[in-house]
Amino acid sequence: MEDRARTGGCAVLSSAAHSAASQSVVSSTGARVERQPLSRYTTLGVGGEAEVWTVGNHAQLAEVMGAPYRILGGGSNLVVADEGLSERVIRLGGQFAAIDLNADPALSTLGQLVTGWVGGGVPLPGLLRKLQRLGYSNLEGTVGIPAQLGGAIWMNAGTRFGEAFGGLHSLEIVSPQGTRTVTPDELPWSYRDSGIPRNHIVTRARLKLRRSSPEAVQERMDAADIARKGQPKNRTPGCAFKNPALADGKRLGAGKLFDEAGLKGSRVGNAMIALEHANFIVNLGGATAADVHALLGLMRERVGVALELEYELWP
Ligand code: FAD
Ligand code: EPU
Repeated sequence: MEDRARTGGCAVLSSAAHSAASQSVVSSTGARVERQPLSRYTTLGVGGEAEVWTVGNHAQLAEVMGAPYRILGGGSNLVVADEGLSERVIRLGGQFAAIDLNADPALSTLGQLVTGWVGGGVPLPGLLRKLQRLGYSNLEGTVGIPAQLGGAIWMNAGTRFGEAFGGLHSLEIVSPQGTRTVTPDELPWSYRDSGIPRNHIVTRARLKLRRSSPEAVQERMDAADIARKGQPKNRTPGCAFKNPALADGKRLGAGKLFDEAGLKGSRVGNAMIALEHANFIVNLGGATAADVHALLGLMRERVGVALELEYELWP
């Protein structure tokens, strides 16, 4: 059973309460606040403790943004420090995890539709399954990405079969400066980058989709899935570095570069460069953030090309 208490003002867990990792309090606006190890929330399975706020509406979001914060999605691109974080960590729930896939009649046509709002905290894999069943196309190329919708949008996650920005009509973004709704053409988005400033929170999005059939959408998902067959199954935050761009706009495969540099199987502590794909770092069990940082340094050192990190390092 969770031990819950309602706080008077802003819910801040005292350091005395920090040791009780499962203790949960409720903030003045009703957000749930818990001291938790972030290793529970990351696909890598690494990360020390932080104060985790689960917020379900705009009032709760405004409250939590009253002190320094970070926004957590599916935790599938994160390397969180072993020491944990001093900032509040926001998880989206409630209204920000709701799904309205009804076509907006004012904006939809026979071939193309614009949905209602879909929360930034909605897990992408489940959303894609729903879209497939409805025969709605445009986002299926992102199959296999273990993100939340908001995190996938913030990173513009994708594969060569499609990216998050391929299926967006508009986004609601909340920051300490207020709430705004933008369309993709108002953002400088590109490969693995939405152009949305850090800590501006994608609370929800309306999707722009093409009417297709469940079978055709499934076929395209299968093709995108096949391209993942060579990726590791261990705990990982996915590809470590972005594929560097060449002068002609094409991209070099960073994984291929690391492979050619002989890095597969390189190990620091319990973190290892995957045997299956050299741009993935995997946790063999009990890896630390420090192990991962050391491997990232080795990867940069061994490849004579400027590389941009894809992982988000917290802090
Ligand atoms: P998190 O990892 O939780 O956070 C990443 C960043 O997004 C942080 O800066 C965070 O603050 C920010 N963020 C999260 N949610 C929000 C929000 N609502 N509003 C604003 N900012 C937010 N990526 C690809 O692009 N293509 C792939 O094919 C791919 N394959 C992967 C396969 C595996 C097995 C794994 C583990 C990862 C893979 N990734 C891939 C990486 C990762 O899934 C993406 O980067 C994804 O976009 C991260 O989303 P997330 O919700 O997990 O965000
Ligand atoms: N390759 C090697 N050795 C390796 C890895 C790859 O020789 O260790 C070769 C492959 O054989 C292939 C080429 O490099 O000929 C490209 O490999 P792959 O198809 O795996 O694509 P990638 O560019 O390495 C990108 C994304 C992945 C995405 C896949 C599938 C980036 C940084 N990576 O990988 O995204 O899933 O395409 O579309 O853009 C991620 O971003 O986290 C991620 C996993």
